[in-house]
Amino acid sequence: MKILVINGPNLNMLGIREPEIYGRQTYADLVAAVEGWASEMGLDVEVYQSNHEGEIVTKIQQAYFEKADGIVINAAAYTHTSVAILDALKAVQIPAVEVHLSDIHVRDEFRKHSYVSLYAEKMICGKGFEGYREALGYLAEKLK
Ligand code: DQA
Repeated sequence: MKILVINGPNLNMLGIREPEIYGRQTYADLVAAVEGWASEMGLDVEVYQSNHEGEIVTKIQQAYFEKADGIVINAAAYTHTSVAILDALKAVQIPAVEVHLSDIHVRDEFRKHSYVSLYAEKMICGKGFEGYREALGYLAEKLK
């Protein structure tokens, strides 16, 4: 089972950016954790990060042609702004789970709205890296 994990802008700065919100673990730590969980679950995972909206749209489109079975997406700030990412998810119709490290419901008002949620089957937020494990587990169970 092929899962694409997409991380949006500034997530490559984990460990440096606002550690009081996002913790001290780095992006490399996140990738290693996700790859470890995926292999335990028998999933074939690709972990992708981009700071560019259009590149994320293109990656979602490629997931269709490469026959990905599921998507885990933390679109970061684009969560709250990007109709293009929402439309790409709707275009490919691949089951998707939305993840956020922080709890977007208890932060700034503008973070409460998520375009990604208009497509994603499930949102997991406020659980740090663990949210990615839950998202992988959800897709592994659903798609088996
Ligand atoms: C985030 C929450 C977003 O509001 C923010 O813009 C991010 C990260 C999270 O993982 O908590 O960059 O998606």
